[in-house]
Amino acid sequence: MSTDKDRVLIFDTTLRDGEQSPGATMSHSEKLEIAEMLDEMGVDIIEAGFPIASEGDFAAVSEIAKAAQNSVICGLSRANYKDIDRCWEAVKHAKAPRIHTFIGTSPLHRAIPNLTQDEMADRIHDTVTHARNLCDNVQWSPMDATRTEWDYLCRVVEIAIRAGATTINIPDTVGYTAPVESADLIRRLIAEVPGGEDVVFATHCHNDLGMATANSLAAVDGGARQIECTINGLGERAGNTALEEVVMAMKTRSDIMPYFTEIDTTKIMAISRRVSTVSGFLVQPNKAIVGKNAFAHESGIHQDGMLKNRENFEIMRPEDIGLSGTSLPLGKHSGRAALRDKLEKLGFELADNQLKDVFVRFKALADQKKEVFDEDLIALMRDSSAEQANEHLKIKLLRVVCGTEGPQSAEMVLEVDGADQRVEATGDGPVDAAFNAVKALFEHNARLELYQVHAVTEGTDAQATVSVRLNEDGTIATGESADTDTVVASAKAYVNALNRLIERRKMGRVGYDEKSVSYKDVG
Ligand code: KIV
Ligand code: ZN
Repeated sequence: MSTDKDRVLIFDTTLRDGEQSPGATMSHSEKLEIAEMLDEMGVDIIEAGFPIASEGDFAAVSEIAKAAQNSVICGLSRANYKDIDRCWEAVKHAKAPRIHTFIGTSPLHRAIPNLTQDEMADRIHDTVTHARNLCDNVQWSPMDATRTEWDYLCRVVEIAIRAGATTINIPDTVGYTAPVESADLIRRLIAEVPGGEDVVFATHCHNDLGMATANSLAAVDGGARQIECTINGLGERAGNTALEEVVMAMKTRSDIMPYFTEIDTTKIMAISRRVSTVSGFLVQPNKAIVGKNAFAHESGIHQDGMLKNRENFEIMRPEDIGLSGTSLPLGKHSGRAALRDKLEKLGFELADNQLKDVFVRFKALADQKKEVFDEDLIALMRDSSAEQANEHLKIKLLRVVCGTEGPQSAEMVLEVDGADQRVEATGDGPVDAAFNAVKALFEHNARLELYQVHAVTEGTDAQATVSVRLNEDGTIATGESADTDTVVASAKAYVNALNRLIERRKMGRVGYDEKSVSYKDVG
């Protein structure tokens, strides 16, 4: 029988570590929406952002704190009083607030603020004490713990515990550790650091060597009882531990991993799709648990085996993660109720006015395509949400001339901050012409780093999903769109990325630069 000591807390950092990933910036309303979904699916702790990073981050964390019903709401702060005070100001509205403060403890990271071991130890003592005087739920992290000298790691963990930290998080910041080491590290810290048995140890793994999930689960074997993770493994570089992977691994292999979480796994697919849409990071088709092919059985042998007994090739049931079974496509005669029902099965819950808007789009699509498959509806939903978030630029009209005789041309009407502007542009192909039209109407220096086209389904009437990545002096923004007309999808994806870029420009976030703040500087 499982007891509370087998319970693993799920700490989701999609809105902080995930959103920090270049190009993954979410708008304010998108952050609130994702937080609500995390809260509803049973995530124990939501790291809602880094409040000192910008006014926008602060506002998002405070609003999430006010709205959360069940989850603990946590904010991140560097090891200085000003950050910690700002973090507290944002999270204090929550029913259950938490301050998370961190400092890089490895030799490489100590060199950044240029602190000796003793100076850093004093700073940890002072800042954790300061946080604990504000909030009785304090998490402390020695960043780059897995490359910190063992003796020093034990010393600083003990200092943080004595100063009042209630959770000690052990980050594998650069994805350097391996499962055996990950388990051993936590086991030894709990056993050897005075007070280690009285706090919760957490594991926070990055996926640089593709071992984040394995390392997190190994840390649980070593005694960690909090896993830090993100939806779809979103995060910098190769990302963070994927929530869906650790949760489903513990559920599916409870025979060898006798732990449990309070996550409602049937909500996994819906939140995975939503995070993919709002972050602009597509999920790779063969991604574990949430990839498009994770439950697809293409080969004849597999299909035959599945028909005889699904357990031949399935270790999890698709329903357990919120995937509906095989479903019939919709068509132009399908009504609003059928559309609502289908969307709900796909994890989209819409208010009546939203359904009205989506229904109009659905009818337009069904006029172009005989059969509207689940994948089409998912693409349509992503598209409509990206367009709703566009506050600056909107395409009102696009007409292109293409063919074997060049140059190709595009006529475009673009709404720029409320005013319609018209232009005709030429280019090397219709997509180039359409992009040139956008550039003529909205001047910018962003470089097109990625342009990718995928067919959503089979057939020549299939929708094309286009992904675009822009880079303006290191500020990255992605955009995505789908349409049965590839040129239209391309232009819309480009405009979606530009809208995000404009938002990113406004954010002007601070990074983790430790030199910029004196640590006793009270805000
Ligand atoms: O990876 C890391 O070390 C972090 C810390 C800020 C906890 O994200
Ligand atoms: Zn991290």
